[in-house]
Amino acid sequence: MAWIGEIDLGTKPAPLLSGKMVSLTIDGEAIEVPEGTSIMRAAALMGTTIPKLCATDSLEAFGSCRLCLVEIEGRAGYPASCTTPVMPGMVVSTQTDRLQQLRKGVMELYISDHPLDCLTCSANGDCELQDMAGAVGLRDVRYGYEGEHHLDACKDASNPYFTFDPAKCIVCSRCVRACDEVQGTLALTVDGRGFESHISASQDEDFLKSECVSCGACVQACPTSALIEKEVEKVGTPDKAVVTTCAYCGVGCTFRAEMRGEQLVRMVPWKDGKANRGHSCVKGRFAWGYANHKERILNPMIRESIDQPWREVSWDEAITHTATEFRRIQAKYGTRSVGGITSSRCTNEETYLVQKLIRQGFGNNNVDTCARVCHSPTGYGLKTTFGTSAGTQDFDSVMEADVMLVIGANPTDGHPVFASRMKRRLREGAKLIVIDPRRIDLVRSPHIEASYHLPLKPGTNVAVLTAIAHVIVTEGLVDEDYVRARCDWDEFSEWAAFVSQSERSPEATEALTTVPAADLRAAARLYATGGKSAIYYGLGVTEHSQGSSTVIAIANLAMATGNVGIEGAGVNPLRGQNNVQGACDMGSFPHEFSGYRHVSDNATRKLFEEAWGVSLDAEPGLRIPNMLDAATEGSFKGLFVQGEDILQSDPNTHHVAAGLAAMECVVVQDLFLNETANYAHVFLPGSTFLEKDGTFTNAERRIQRVRQVMRPKNGYADWEIVQLVARAMGLGWSYTHPSEIMDEIARLTPTFARVSYAALEEHGSVQWPATDAAPVGTPVMHMEGFVRGKGHFVVTDYVPTDEKTGPRFPLLLTTGRILSHYNVGAQTRRTDNVAWHPEDRLEIHPLDAENRGIRDGDWVALRSRAGETTLRALITERVAPGVVYTTFHHPETQANVITTDYSDWATNCPEYKVTAVQVSPSNGPSDWQESYRAQAERSRRIEAVAAE
Ligand code: SF4
Ligand code: SF4
Ligand code: SF4
Ligand code: FES
Repeated sequence: MAWIGEIDLGTKPAPLLSGKMVSLTIDGEAIEVPEGTSIMRAAALMGTTIPKLCATDSLEAFGSCRLCLVEIEGRAGYPASCTTPVMPGMVVSTQTDRLQQLRKGVMELYISDHPLDCLTCSANGDCELQDMAGAVGLRDVRYGYEGEHHLDACKDASNPYFTFDPAKCIVCSRCVRACDEVQGTLALTVDGRGFESHISASQDEDFLKSECVSCGACVQACPTSALIEKEVEKVGTPDKAVVTTCAYCGVGCTFRAEMRGEQLVRMVPWKDGKANRGHSCVKGRFAWGYANHKERILNPMIRESIDQPWREVSWDEAITHTATEFRRIQAKYGTRSVGGITSSRCTNEETYLVQKLIRQGFGNNNVDTCARVCHSPTGYGLKTTFGTSAGTQDFDSVMEADVMLVIGANPTDGHPVFASRMKRRLREGAKLIVIDPRRIDLVRSPHIEASYHLPLKPGTNVAVLTAIAHVIVTEGLVDEDYVRARCDWDEFSEWAAFVSQSERSPEATEALTTVPAADLRAAARLYATGGKSAIYYGLGVTEHSQGSSTVIAIANLAMATGNVGIEGAGVNPLRGQNNVQGACDMGSFPHEFSGYRHVSDNATRKLFEEAWGVSLDAEPGLRIPNMLDAATEGSFKGLFVQGEDILQSDPNTHHVAAGLAAMECVVVQDLFLNETANYAHVFLPGSTFLEKDGTFTNAERRIQRVRQVMRPKNGYADWEIVQLVARAMGLGWSYTHPSEIMDEIARLTPTFARVSYAALEEHGSVQWPATDAAPVGTPVMHMEGFVRGKGHFVVTDYVPTDEKTGPRFPLLLTTGRILSHYNVGAQTRRTDNVAWHPEDRLEIHPLDAENRGIRDGDWVALRSRAGETTLRALITERVAPGVVYTTFHHPETQANVITTDYSDWATNCPEYKVTAVQVSPSNGPSDWQESYRAQAERSRRIEAVAAE
């Protein structure tokens, strides 16, 4: 681990407009830089640092501090080097007596209104103001503190993670510009004029109450300790760093994990990170404290039956017991009576090992993953139409998009760092279409307004997309040259004839979808003719009984308009979990080996049989819902679950509980005693992403390194634990490092052929497929043609879900995520992120609330055919009348008690987004919720005592 301080070149690189180079002389040295480069950056590139305060290379130059003055031969005055572009033949001096004198004067003014408490300041040694005072040779200040000053200003410590001390603020506005340019929230302003100028969050509120979303961009930009992480104040400035990848969402932001000794002090987004380009959200930046949470289980535990208390045991005993139990069950009930679930939170290497354990060790294909409940329709739909189960673009591609169509996704909450990129492009003038039952933030936010928001009725995605296709085909907006050259024309013709039928027109389907026909027509025209159009979608597309059909309908639209295989366009699933793409790539599905090759394919099976030295099952195994069905029927008896809480995340909680309760051995490997662990017989403590080496693959197929920052508190990284189980089952595994696992993956998986830890060190990341011609990978897929050959149009008939509203259940419930929490909240609930979202609330339209006598904040009962829960109401016009919405981050709510077990016809992905419900006033939490809370509180207390 070494210190990886990042170099700040002062201003952004020149836009690649002309490609021309400019020659000039700086301090007597000749240099050539691209046209449009600032003098400051040119100097920095040759190793000369010009003093600066308001400039930093992540922001547009502003030119306010006047510290970076230079002299230019033949030009009067002292121009600011940050805002002055280089010109051919320019002769620049950065250090002269006059410049020294001017800079000293500027610094004197700053320092005269700054507390001189450097020795006790938390940023001592990591402060640009301090550095600049040294750089300009400031030794004393002529002005005293007698006059007006800001030194008594009150500190704002309301944000859980950082403080704002106006006394230390030099009003350089870097924070304001970071919030505007990088994050796009525009939460900060410089209020007042002249001496009265000060930084204000929203309307001079404290940070916690303001519009601030706690992304940390302002803290990162601040050159003093005016904005500083509380952890730095507590622990001290870091002295070394290691680059690793966030373990929350599919954006895959990379961070410098900055340490002081063995202690993690802060996570700073890495400027060279190709997915995040130096930005972060509140989760990756700040919500890592769960790794040290007292509720973490660090010792293995076993019990004979689930009504007994847990017994702590040695790792040896736990591993031997696990292996013995699986072998016993198989001997008694047959080879296919056991299976396992891989985790999208774990590394590629770990998911690969779990599926290998099941295929090689259990001798069957009963392996599935949490992608089953999120993006399995993406895999099916995109493989069917394009030939590859992955998104087509990299994130950078959005900066070339002219039109963005966002359907069933809420990027500002679910994929916030990518949402900031989208917002930047939208502020530059790209157009936006949002198709969502809810008015998500993107529909209208500062300087952004969607051209069209189509607020469809939940469950009618296919009808809406078909109506869009109807407009495109019947109004002659198809890119016929593209379709003829790239797709199967006969299939296209069949699809075009289908969508052209009058009953699929926007007018004919308006009553069904609730989308005004005129808006839909206009949106369709914009998508087809607005230039390069990119579709971004999320779980609002996949988690439906027609999830796969919707993905296919999206692909059809993109092919018909020529919007695949070019930068700025494409079909982009916004993946949920950090490694859901990787978990799918690694062969976590019951019908596929790594690289999406079917288990029935003899050549592929032979490859793995030779490598693993066993014969492999040619029959696809059971999916998660089938495992649970088989368990309740008595034929499935043992399950290995790594890093997944199926009791909370899978639909119809009662059915999941019944399935788990019917098994004889459930092994849970996780950080915390999760809800599934209530039904487990063995608990194997897991390790966090900070404690292991490996790789994650993000939503743009980018494979990035996860690097060990601290030693595993539980003793082993997750890959080591799986290896211990495999060895106890008699498999001769002998990996000494995850790089060896990746080497095996690369040997056996064509799309990973060029992937190795050495390649990742060299290139920073690799986007599969990586080939000899493209060793860093493929940012945009299908450029020369579709992976499957001809693009495959498929007719997608709209089939209404069986989940229907009626007099008993008149409203439709749809679910989603909020920025501050992640999935079932196991990690984020154990951080200060609860400050923003301490409970799940039910969003309900004012009309529906009034009809039921519900006021904002009231407890309400939420009932469906599957179950009932209680939560508090949030009255809002974000949802349309007839639609209610909630998040599912808190186990006390158990939103999945409500959801049914209807699922996607092709993949069994549950229909989370459509549940018919009734909402009525309630006196408070139901009995089971109260007993859950009491039980959770009891266990928390017991564990806290045990931890002490
Ligand atoms: S808080 Fe920091 S970044 Fe913002 S104006 Fe003050 S000194 Fe500059
Ligand atoms: S933390 Fe992010 S959102 Fe909040 S003020 Fe700073 S830059 Fe803006
Ligand atoms: S949660 Fe997602 S957007 Fe936020 S820092 Fe992590 S990877 Fe980036
Ligand atoms: S750094 Fe150039 S004016 Fe501030």
